[in-house]
Amino acid sequence: MNSKHIVITGSTRGIGLGMARAFLSMGHVVSVSGRHRELVNAVARKLQNEFSPEKVAGFVVDVTAPRSVDQLWLKASLWKPVDIWINNAGIGPSGELFHHIYPEEIDEVIHTNLTGVINGTRVAYLHMKQQGAGAIYNMEGFGSDGRTMPGMTLYGTTKRAVRYFTHSFAKEMVEKKVLLGTLSPGMVVTGLLLESVKKAPAGPQQSIRIFNILADRVETVAPFLARKILENQKTDVRIAWLTKWKIFFRFFRSFFRKRAVFFNDDLNSSQN
Ligand SMILES: NC(=O)c1ccc[n+]([C@@H]2O[C@H](COP(=O)([O-])OP(=O)(O)OC[C@H]3O[C@@H](n4cnc5c(N)ncnc54)[C@H](OP(=O)(O)O)[C@@H]3O)[C@@H](O)[C@H]2O)c1
Repeated sequence: MNSKHIVITGSTRGIGLGMARAFLSMGHVVSVSGRHRELVNAVARKLQNEFSPEKVAGFVVDVTAPRSVDQLWLKASLWKPVDIWINNAGIGPSGELFHHIYPEEIDEVIHTNLTGVINGTRVAYLHMKQQGAGAIYNMEGFGSDGRTMPGMTLYGTTKRAVRYFTHSFAKEMVEKKVLLGTLSPGMVVTGLLLESVKKAPAGPQQSIRIFNILADRVETVAPFLARKILENQKTDVRIAWLTKWKIFFRFFRSFFRKRAVFFNDDLNSSQN
């Protein structure tokens, strides 16, 4: 098997960490990353013990800072040539209605979820163009398809923009051997989702009811995304877990069978 090196921004927990595990269990090499050195080192060490010390490296990155993203590429590619780069790092919706959100939080959400993706795509593309090969994936989220919901305006704006940016740049890219696409994980039980449930304007119980119909665990979604990424040969692609048909089927089935994906206990822990 041709082993690939995958760099994942924001992989110290949640979906990023889940994808790291999935790639590693399929025999590939992964660079995990996040803003906090101690956490990055601890996660890298844990994965090295679970898999193999030669297959995992950990690097500190803040995706909002272009220089930091440059450094991530340089350090990761010095370790092993990079085949796939996933712009996964993101912060969730605060759940507040937009007019209650302070300018500092607006900056943080836009810089992480949108500028971070743009920074990562730019750096990875420029280097992959020189390599003549590679693939870049950007993380979508609620709002990417234009849907709206109270409390999701700012987050949804960034995710809508991520889809537009990726689609537009995929058409503009001159190096056709570099692939660019988006990932749509649906609803996944992570710290990000749990925080947004706690603060949902309609209250947590209403969200828990919906999430028990539509949400999935990281261990279910991350291996699917990882497998599809490895199989993909096309650019301007969208890899989606929770398709319209799956949503329809889940709601239909919910009349006959209750799913319990999401527990009240989850709300007491904000990390997984
Ligand atoms: N969970 C869902 O239901 C869901 C649904 C659709 C889309 N998504 C998207 O999927 C991605 C991952 O979400 P998740 O639920 O796995 O979130 P999560 O559990 O909160 O993990 C987010 C990761 O991003 C890192 N991060 C945050 N800000 C960063 C920055 N400025 N620079 C570098 N790393 C940063 C975090 O590490 P540090 O804080 O230690 O830096 C962490 O490793 C996000 O883009 C999210 O919008 C999630």
